[in-house]
Amino acid sequence: MARAGNGGGGPETGGIAILDFGSQYTQLIARRIRETRVYSRIFPPTAARAEVMDVRPSGLVLSGGPASVYAPKAPQIPSWVFGAGIPVLGICYGMQAMAHVLGGRVARVARREYGPMVIRRTGRSPLLDGLPASLRVWMSHGDSVSRLPRGFRRAARSFNTPNAAMWDPSRRLFGVQFHPEVAHTEHGTRILRNYVFRVCGCRPTWTMEAFAREQVSRIRETVGNGRVLCAISGGVDSSVMAALVARAVGNRLVAVFVDNGLLRRDEGNRVMGILRGGLGVKVRKVSAGPRFLKCLKGVTEPEKKRRRIGREFIRVFEDAVRHLGKVEFLAQGTLYPDVIESVSTRGPSATIKTHHNVGGLPRDLKFRLIEPLRELFKDEVRELGLKLGLPRDLLWRHPFPGPGLAVRLLGPVTEERLAILRQADAIVIDEFKRTGWYGKVWQAFAVLLPVRSVGVMGDERTYANAAIIRAVESRDGMTADWARLPADLLSRISTRIINEVKGVNRVAYDISSKPPSTIEWE
Ligand code: XMP
Repeated sequence: MARAGNGGGGPETGGIAILDFGSQYTQLIARRIRETRVYSRIFPPTAARAEVMDVRPSGLVLSGGPASVYAPKAPQIPSWVFGAGIPVLGICYGMQAMAHVLGGRVARVARREYGPMVIRRTGRSPLLDGLPASLRVWMSHGDSVSRLPRGFRRAARSFNTPNAAMWDPSRRLFGVQFHPEVAHTEHGTRILRNYVFRVCGCRPTWTMEAFAREQVSRIRETVGNGRVLCAISGGVDSSVMAALVARAVGNRLVAVFVDNGLLRRDEGNRVMGILRGGLGVKVRKVSAGPRFLKCLKGVTEPEKKRRRIGREFIRVFEDAVRHLGKVEFLAQGTLYPDVIESVSTRGPSATIKTHHNVGGLPRDLKFRLIEPLRELFKDEVRELGLKLGLPRDLLWRHPFPGPGLAVRLLGPVTEERLAILRQADAIVIDEFKRTGWYGKVWQAFAVLLPVRSVGVMGDERTYANAAIIRAVESRDGMTADWARLPADLLSRISTRIINEVKGVNRVAYDISSKPPSTIEWE
C-alpha cells in the first residue's frame, strides 16, 4: 500500500513531540497541548531521530509509563534526545528515565503515591512560574528520583518524594513526578502552557483554519492533476474529509458511498440526502450488502470480522471505480485515535482493535492513500467541519464504526440477526432523540448477544436473545464512562424493545467504562 505524503507531516511551525513510554495518559498530554493551539504529536520511543525532527518540534515531552527504570526491558530515552538542542520535559517515568540516564539515582519510594498529593515549591523554575507555593497534583508512581543528576535543581517536593519537580537551567531539561495533563492536578494546564510557551517558545498557530489551509495545499501538491476517490460512510469523519478534499480538488473528487448492508435503519437514504444537500458533492451509492454478508459467513471472531470487512471495502471501491477511468488516490477519514489504537505507538502496549480503515487494508492496494484527518481527534474534526460549512446535525451525529452493526452483533452475522439488531437500535436512538439525551452522550446504541435466556410473554414461555443498551459519555472516544441515564428512559427502551422486537426477551444496560472495557463490544 502506498501512503501519499500528506498524512504524516506536521504543521508549518514548531510544535511539541511526545515520546510515549506507555502511560495511559499520553493521549491527554497531546490533547492538552493542542488545546493551547500548539501542534503536538506522539511517537514511540523507538522512532528514529529524523522521523521525530521532521515535524520540527520546539520541545520534547517524555511521557509516563508503567515500567521501573531498573526493569530489564524498561524503555530507554533514545540517545539523540539530549543532543537535539530543544527543551525536554519528563513526566513521571519520563523524569525518572531522564534522571537515571543522566547520572542521578532512582529508588523505590517508601510508600507508593497514587492519587491526589500536595507538593510544595522549593525554588524558582519557569515551569512552575506564577503558581501558588503549594498545590494539589495527581501522582501515580512507585519509584522516584532520590538523587538529582549533576546540573539539576529541585523545584518542588512532596511529603514522600524529595524531588517532585526538577530542572537543569543550562540544558533546559525539566522533570515532574506528577501528571500535569490530568484534570485533578491544580494548575496543570498552566504548567503545560509554561512549558510550551515560556520554555519552548511555541506560538499558538495550530488552528482549524490553519490546518484546513495547510491540508488543502498538501492535497493539491500530492494529487496534482489526479483524481481522488473518497470512501464515504456518512459519518462525521468521512463527510468532513470529503468536504476538505472537495475544497482542494473540486470536481476531481469522486465520492462513493458503500452500503455494506451493516448500516442502521434508513441510514443509507439519510446519508445520501445529507451528503448531497450539505456537501454539494455528487455521491455515487454502491449497494454491496450481499457481498459483505458472504465474506462474513461463519465468521465470529471480532478481529477476523474487522479484517474481512476492511478488505471487502477496498475490493468494492476498486470495482466501483473500474469504469471511471484512472483514479489514483483514495482518501479516507482515518482519525488519530484510530491510528494510535491500531498501530500501537505505545511502544510496549498491544493492538486493541483493528480499525477497518487502518489495519485491514490489503497489501496490494491499488490506490495511493491520503488521510488528511490522520492528525486529528474527533472534537477537532467537528470543529473543522464547522469551518468547512457542514451542517451541525451531521457533525454531531454519534460516531458509527466502519464495520457497522457487524461489531455490535456478537457471533455470526446473518440477515435475520441484523434485522433484529437494527430494530432494537432504532428504538434506542428514537428514545434518546425524543428525550433530548442524544445530544448529551457521546454514543448510544444496541448490541445483540448470541445468548438466549428464558422469559414469559402472556402465558407463553419464550427462549430468545438478550440485547444490551450501551450509552457512554466521552470527549474523544479514548476514554469513556457509562452514561447515568434516568431509570424512566432505560425502562421505556427496555419495554419497547421486548414488546416490539421479535427475537429479544431480555434487555440489560452496560455499566462498564473504557478502560478497561471498550465502547464497542468487538
Ligand atoms: P472502541 O470500541 O475502540 O471505540 O472503544 C472507540 C470509538 O471508535 C469507534 N470505532 C470505530 N470507528 N472505524 C471507525 O471509524 C472502526 O473500525 C471503529 N471501531 C470503533 C467507536 O464507535 C467509538 O466511538
